[in-house]
Amino acid sequence: MSAIPFDQLDGQIWFNGEFIPWRDAKIHVLTHGLHYASAVFEGERAYGGEIFKLREHTERLIESGRILGFTLPYSAEEIDTACSELLRRQGFSDAYVRPIAWRGSESMGVSAQKNRINVAIAIWQWPSYFNPEERMKGIRLDLAEYRRPDPRTAPSRAKASGLYMICTISKHAAEAKGYADALMLDWRGQVAEATGANVFFVKDGAIHTPTPDCFLDGITRRTVIELARRRGIEVNVRAIMPEELSDFSECFLCGTAAEVTPVAEIGPYRFAPGEISRQLVSDYMAEVTPKRIAAE
Ligand SMILES: Cc1ncc(COP(=O)(O)O)c(C=O)c1O
Repeated sequence: MSAIPFDQLDGQIWFNGEFIPWRDAKIHVLTHGLHYASAVFEGERAYGGEIFKLREHTERLIESGRILGFTLPYSAEEIDTACSELLRRQGFSDAYVRPIAWRGSESMGVSAQKNRINVAIAIWQWPSYFNPEERMKGIRLDLAEYRRPDPRTAPSRAKASGLYMICTISKHAAEAKGYADALMLDWRGQVAEATGANVFFVKDGAIHTPTPDCFLDGITRRTVIELARRRGIEVNVRAIMPEELSDFSECFLCGTAAEVTPVAEIGPYRFAPGEISRQLVSDYMAEVTPKRIAAE
């Protein structure tokens, strides 16, 4: 990642329908989204000049806004076109794509019924979340203190900015202890996910992953389940208790940013990145590679 602060990079940002210079993409300090977390966003990756599962991400962005009570003022087609055109203008082949929608400054109370819904898209280069060498060795996870909330407490199906407050706190606490990330339990004490990625386990050649009933049902998660089933690997989507962690031989995380990343440790539990993790790391990379490149 660049040492230059993100507001000082160069290029263009798509901002409410226009391509503007990167450094001019500013908002006022009195913005509802900043004070009350009335914002939703997406994280996408482009491989070989194509954004992987762009339409699914765009639809989730629109749905996240709907869950927070607002309608994005652009159609899925318009957002997709803006993302693809911005990728072309930025001149990147492999990159990270960040669309965001937020309530503006028209009023500054809890109620913000008439605030403008703003939408922006930025694209930057973001190599692997965890460095490649560390990836196959498996990363180390702490057990987070915060839990994913009950869906009656927070809109857990939305990729909403406010839900990331406990993720940043948990990730910082893990990093302070030398871990790469943290595994979060849910409000019932079941295994949920990491701070920005879903989690999978392997036992006796079968995959086990938690039911996404109070955390994000990741697009990568769904892709990995499909890839595993294509290989004939059994996938069990079910409630997983932390006491079971000692029964699993392999563990990996998956998400747009994390891709498929093996895990070697979660608190006191140890895993050995093995055949199934290796297979899915490689199947996922093949799946995200545009067909025209794979054919070369
Ligand atoms: C908290 C959280 N869970 C899971 C995921 C995985 O979602 P996706 O695969 O759609 O990127 C993400 C985002 O990448 C996330 O931030």
